[in-house]
Amino acid sequence: MCGIVGAILKEGAVLRGMIEGLRVLEYRGYDSSGVAIAGPQGLLVQKKAGRLEELENVLAETQFPDGLAGIGHTRWATHGPPTDVNAHPHTDTDRTIAVVHNGIIENYLELREELSASGSRFLSDTDTEVLTHLIAREALEGSLVDAVLRALGRVRGHYAIAVLRPGAQPEVVCARHGPPLCIGLSKEGAWLGSDILALIPHTRNVIFLEDGDVAELKVDSIVVRDLEGNLLERTAQRVDWDAEQVGKGSWPHFMIKEIHEQPDVLAQTAFHRLDDESGDVKFEEAGWTDEVLQGVERIQIVACGTALHAGYTARHLIEGLARVPVDLDFASEFRYRDPILVPGTLAIGISQSGETADSLAALRRARELGARTACICNVAGSTMVRECDAALMTHAGPEIGVASTKAFVAQLVAAYLLAIRIGRARGQLSADEGRVLLQDLRLLRPKMESLLSKKFLARMIEIAERHRGVKGFLFLGRGINYPIALEGALKLKEISYMHAEGYAAGEMKHGPIALVEAWMTTVVITGHGLLAEKVRSNIEQVRARGGPVIAVGADRESLELADEAIEVPDCNEWLSPILNVIPLQLLSYEVARLRGCDIDKPRNLAKSVTVE
Ligand code: M6R
Repeated sequence: MCGIVGAILKEGAVLRGMIEGLRVLEYRGYDSSGVAIAGPQGLLVQKKAGRLEELENVLAETQFPDGLAGIGHTRWATHGPPTDVNAHPHTDTDRTIAVVHNGIIENYLELREELSASGSRFLSDTDTEVLTHLIAREALEGSLVDAVLRALGRVRGHYAIAVLRPGAQPEVVCARHGPPLCIGLSKEGAWLGSDILALIPHTRNVIFLEDGDVAELKVDSIVVRDLEGNLLERTAQRVDWDAEQVGKGSWPHFMIKEIHEQPDVLAQTAFHRLDDESGDVKFEEAGWTDEVLQGVERIQIVACGTALHAGYTARHLIEGLARVPVDLDFASEFRYRDPILVPGTLAIGISQSGETADSLAALRRARELGARTACICNVAGSTMVRECDAALMTHAGPEIGVASTKAFVAQLVAAYLLAIRIGRARGQLSADEGRVLLQDLRLLRPKMESLLSKKFLARMIEIAERHRGVKGFLFLGRGINYPIALEGALKLKEISYMHAEGYAAGEMKHGPIALVEAWMTTVVITGHGLLAEKVRSNIEQVRARGGPVIAVGADRESLELADEAIEVPDCNEWLSPILNVIPLQLLSYEVARLRGCDIDKPRNLAKSVTVE
């Protein structure tokens, strides 16, 4: 869960581009950072605990020299606390090479013992330093790429690494086994990065390295080999994200920028796929044909965090609209619990990044058990997209805020489309029913916009001000809005550090009601149809025990019962989670802002969890 950058250029200087790359990768880890440059006299290394600004300050104060080749890293600590010494890059005893690493070297203790016995001096607590000494020992003779290949042959674990050796012809080599790594050639030279965000300011033609790939970057070419040293053909893919999307513009935080992008995300994810003539959706991606979907007996969804909450909603949508049974599990549980999959199972992973280690492992496990695999994913070229039999892209654009917002809404929209597609393919939905569902989706955009108006935002700030000091929050929802209760609680806890629990409203009397008191705010998402009445009685039960209630939704009667009402435009029940989640995202954002939290980089979290 770290960010890696690197480059080798024909002329000019590499440092600025690397720092810009690290800035966009900070979402992957932000407890320390560092750079190494290949200088004329050898390696130049600077590293610093804390945010990237700390490193930038030291680089400026020390007038750190620049060069034509370098590597950089932003860290999320796994082995050893976030200190200057543990920050990457790491160098060997004679400072002949520098290494940055994302992942875990599992056999590092035995390698460390062996290397210490033969004279290597270790300075840090990291597993990465072992790899550094190992490569340096192999690099005494021959090319750096050969040394890396030999060293990797001794290593067990997961890694994305970049290695730098200075000299008359500096060498930059990178390798991947697990965590993501991509590379690309620009007019200036060759670049590497943990994800495409770091590369798009330089090139839109990106090679996504595969597990076991080792790449040698040169100023005008890139050579990719497998771990045995055999040459491989890897084709660059054109990436359609813009460099501007990676910036905050005039917004104070990426999170609020991304919340405001959600009406556009709805359009980007859905509108080009709606086909009124057939009352169906048309996916540009392969693998979602009538024939495939008619053969599906059961769907197994696996995901983590916010993406799992999208999965809960997808279950309602697919079971409700397409009548296919859906099971759902935390990816981290599914992968270890010896699950039983019936023949005809379609396993669907949901992921913004497409790189979440548990989600990838769960899908691989499902495949081993005979399932066809598919994903709903935001990042083209990600491991999940490449490994699955079919992918449904969410087209939300780059999401930088650690708290997922627009990617979640895009997942909900994609799930709605998928439910319609399966329903139409299996004859569960008629063309007329399909057309109504498509039209409802189109009508959603202005409704989403109304939840981002100045007036609405001012109201959310008022509510946040009144509740920012409570002991904790309970979020309750039912049916298709139960996952929105889970998501509201997750959002609040991850960015404001306030205690928050999401519960199925019907479960309240089985435990959580004991928490209700004047300093515990209950946020209730109002229901539809039969469930509306049940949710109303939840509101009354909380209020009768002196607990303040904020009601969110379209059911007027529920809103009238609450202390604070957040009215959301009405829409068909299937789409209500998309509207209901927006006020909850805003509430979390405002509470966190008022409490002075670091919204885009909450403590202890990283955007993309690429290790277990
Ligand atoms: O990239 P993914 O969607 O697979 O990530 C899954 C979770 O790590 C992610 O949703 C996490 O829960 C977010 N921080 C939520 O805001």
